[in-house]
Amino acid sequence: MAHLTVPVIGLVLCFVWRLVRNFVVSSPLDKIPGPPSGSAISGNMFQFFNPNSWKFVDDVIEIYGPVAKCHGFDGSRILHVYDPKAMHSIYVKDQDNYSREEKMMSTFGLLLGPGLLATQGPVHKKQRKMLNPVFSGAHMRNLTPLFYDVANKLRTVIGSQVKNGPEDLDILAWMGRAALELVGRGGLGYSFDALASESHNEFAQAVKALKPAMNRTPIVREVARFLPYLGPAWFRRFLLRLIPIAKIQRLKVLTDALNKAAQDIYLEKKAAIEKGDADVLHSVGEGKDIMSVLLRENMKASEEDRLPEDEVLAQMGTFILAGVDTTSNALSRILHLLCLSPDVQGKLRAELREAQEQYGKDIPYDQLCALPYLDAVCRETLRLCVAPLVFHPIAMVDTVIPLSEPLRCTDGTVITEVPVPKGTTILLNLRACNTNKALWGQDACEWKPERWLRPLPKAVEDARIPGIYANLYVLRILSLPQMTFISGGYSCIGFKFSQLEMKIVLATLVSNFHFELSPDKPIFWNFAGIAYPVTSHKSSKPEMYLQVSLASG
Ligand code: HEM
Ligand SMILES: *[C@@H]1O[C@H](CO)[C@@H](O)[C@H](O)[C@H]1NC(C)=O
Repeated sequence: MAHLTVPVIGLVLCFVWRLVRNFVVSSPLDKIPGPPSGSAISGNMFQFFNPNSWKFVDDVIEIYGPVAKCHGFDGSRILHVYDPKAMHSIYVKDQDNYSREEKMMSTFGLLLGPGLLATQGPVHKKQRKMLNPVFSGAHMRNLTPLFYDVANKLRTVIGSQVKNGPEDLDILAWMGRAALELVGRGGLGYSFDALASESHNEFAQAVKALKPAMNRTPIVREVARFLPYLGPAWFRRFLLRLIPIAKIQRLKVLTDALNKAAQDIYLEKKAAIEKGDADVLHSVGEGKDIMSVLLRENMKASEEDRLPEDEVLAQMGTFILAGVDTTSNALSRILHLLCLSPDVQGKLRAELREAQEQYGKDIPYDQLCALPYLDAVCRETLRLCVAPLVFHPIAMVDTVIPLSEPLRCTDGTVITEVPVPKGTTILLNLRACNTNKALWGQDACEWKPERWLRPLPKAVEDARIPGIYANLYVLRILSLPQMTFISGGYSCIGFKFSQLEMKIVLATLVSNFHFELSPDKPIFWNFAGIAYPVTSHKSSKPEMYLQVSLASG
């Protein structure tokens, strides 16, 4: 351990220096109202980020409104924001004045390589230029049969478990397996065999263990932020090996397994494509999965647009990390809400069965996307739930954030834009934006799919919330005036993918099964980057039991 003493003392000194400096030096943010600091060292951060922080966060919204100054680690000031005009400025209009959170980028970069979540600026723009068309509606349509294949497998396994009567099933676990298989088949053209009753797929096991391992090692994030300055990627991973902490070594083993598997899939695809498309057509994704399309497009691209191999490879782990937990928690939340509102569940089932009678069991893409009630249920759930906060943008220059409504400062002055010093972290509250009573009305926090079947309140249209779909009326499902997927250059690239997979899973499950709350396993949602369900207030083990039975008729 001796060789760790110097860096550890260095880190501590660095922290103390910043604490003292932030305490002494004043900031233009000091006159913005906000909650008092909870602790000299961690500010409000543990109040914001703990499994039960819903109440604290709701109080900040209720008391301070769309802009509040909060306290970060080492005495820094953090701006909590959900004003629509401010969001537009940060994500769209002035996005070049902000950088992504460095810790997040370098952690992903260290573990998975230079994928979309680990890059910014010109490198990221170039990746989006290549990848945006790959995730376009036309390619999504081709994924429909793959997704149905997975959904029907899921229906069969759940069906076999409830054939003798209602059963309590861990729905979160099943949605997790389904989401992994969906990203595998649709994203990588690879089957994890995740729905088999006993899966021994090593890749799948590494993926499953990775997120919990990452959460258990916040120290990696602290270490990772210093690593971009320490030479090329292979060297940094080599350095990681020297850290004598078992949890970190475990993380390294897992990501090595993941990256190795990704590389195998990649090389196999590349060889197949070079040999001619025939082989790829017989592979798991029939050559229609995202990676196969990406590989082909990348080979065809001009020299200046083409992505280097390490950047293509890094996308595979990125899709998995970005696409599995999000989808499985969103699906679980929808099924939970359908249990709380049996009438909505009944109406949805009726809509799905009618469409199935007309178009066949696997409702085709266009007809599925056009089902109004299914669409309303998905949108309404994404509006209210899923990603409560996003922490990323950091002001790279002294800048200002314009506000929709004037703000009264603690010194009595009234401002219409907030001066933001370089280095300030912005805490964007997506949920608060999506449930803003001033825009959505008094029932903003209630789950009411019906609201999407009528014209939205004029205030919502007028606020010009920069949700990515607001200006993308290609398909009805794409116009969501809400912030769940963020907007601008760093928005969720997988949103259409995720809408389609969710709709296909729901259509298949809700038409066949009836969902009820389990009589002995309650459900609570823990606050986190992606909210997740647990069975007791004190638990941090993700699980969600529902009572499932065959739907009659
Ligand atoms: C309900 C489901 C989903 C939600 C709520 C969601 C939400 C988000 C959000 C909020 C971001 C921005 C993160 C940030 O920059 O801090 C993001 C980025 C991203 N998402 Fe999703 N996502 C979902 C599903 C998916 C799926 C299924 C995929 C892949 C197939 C995916 C791939 C990505 C990627 C690659 C990024 C990084 C984009 C970039 O940096 O350019 N997501 N997502
Ligand atoms: C963004 O940064 C540029 C360059 O520093 C500056 O001129 C501009 O005013 C900034 N934008 C805003 C809205 O503050």
